[in-house]
Amino acid sequence: MLEQTVQIVSNERDTDSYFRLVLRAPQIAPLIQPGQFAHVRILPLKDALLRRPFSIFQVAGDTFSILYKNVGKGTDALSQMRADEELSVIAPLGHGFSVPKSGSETPLLVAGGYGMAAMYLLAQRSPQKGFVFVGGRRHVDILSEKEFAALGWEVRVTTEDGSHGEKGLVTQPLLAELKRGASGKIIYACGPMGMLKAVGKIAEDFNVPAELSMDEHMCCGVGVCLTCVIPVKTGDSWEYQRTCTEGPVFDSRKIVWEIAR
Ligand SMILES: Cc1cc2nc3c(=O)[nH]c(=O)nc-3n(C[C@H](O)[C@H](O)[C@H](O)COP(=O)(O)OP(=O)(O)OC[C@H]3O[C@@H](n4cnc5c(N)ncnc54)[C@H](O)[C@@H]3O)c2cc1C
Ligand code: FES
Repeated sequence: MLEQTVQIVSNERDTDSYFRLVLRAPQIAPLIQPGQFAHVRILPLKDALLRRPFSIFQVAGDTFSILYKNVGKGTDALSQMRADEELSVIAPLGHGFSVPKSGSETPLLVAGGYGMAAMYLLAQRSPQKGFVFVGGRRHVDILSEKEFAALGWEVRVTTEDGSHGEKGLVTQPLLAELKRGASGKIIYACGPMGMLKAVGKIAEDFNVPAELSMDEHMCCGVGVCLTCVIPVKTGDSWEYQRTCTEGPVFDSRKIVWEIAR
């Protein structure tokens, strides 16, 4: 993990309120593992001390990128930054996804909205190709579909308004795929908490392992402030663990869903 001031290579609109930010970070890029995140200080922002966490989307040469949605004052200020301006980042952070075992596991990636950002490196580095289930409210919430298809993965799209792919929730095609056969399958998911909870339940019902990226609100991002904790089973008991350091990726069987927010 490094704290560095890095230069923006590009920061362009993807669809609607989603943007792609490419950063030149030659020392950080080679260290990045799938499912890890960067904690970004948006220097032009008045409360610049408070960093914002973003999954690392892609790595190319000495750069890495972030795929973000403009949802508030931090991401709005970020969306107005241009090439050659600077940001402060701490990265790579967190405990990411385990890469599927060669030949023995069929990965099923499940993503809602910007959750796709956490999945790309996993799809790229997995020795085994599988299915990507991507869901969103509208067509514009479906991100980087073609890039996953270009990696050779089978992409199944759902939208709640039916404007693209199958109408409904991302869990529908996931369920259908598991009903065809669950043996040897492993689920990886990132998205809203309701989706993660539903995916965790499906994994339990089909007795399939699932790794979930629990994107809780974060403050320090490095294990000090305890803002980001979730309840995790330990033997017969449970304890709060930090999503920024022990996570963001957790085995779904270990999450105490009754207590989790
Ligand atoms: C590990 C991790 C990875 C993430 N990866 C991505 C990513 O790849 N792309 C992306 O667009 N966003 C990602 N997020 C969410 C992102 O951090 C927030 O959207 C961002 O911090 C909002 O900052 P803001 O100042 O614009 O919003 P604010 O003005 O602070 O808040 C605006 C709205 O965003 C919500 N919000 C704030 N923080 C979070 C959060 N951590 N998670 C969900 N909603 C939040 C608030 O509740 C509020 O409704 C990730 C979060 C975590 C914890
Ligand atoms: S965000 Fe501070 S401990 Fe996790």
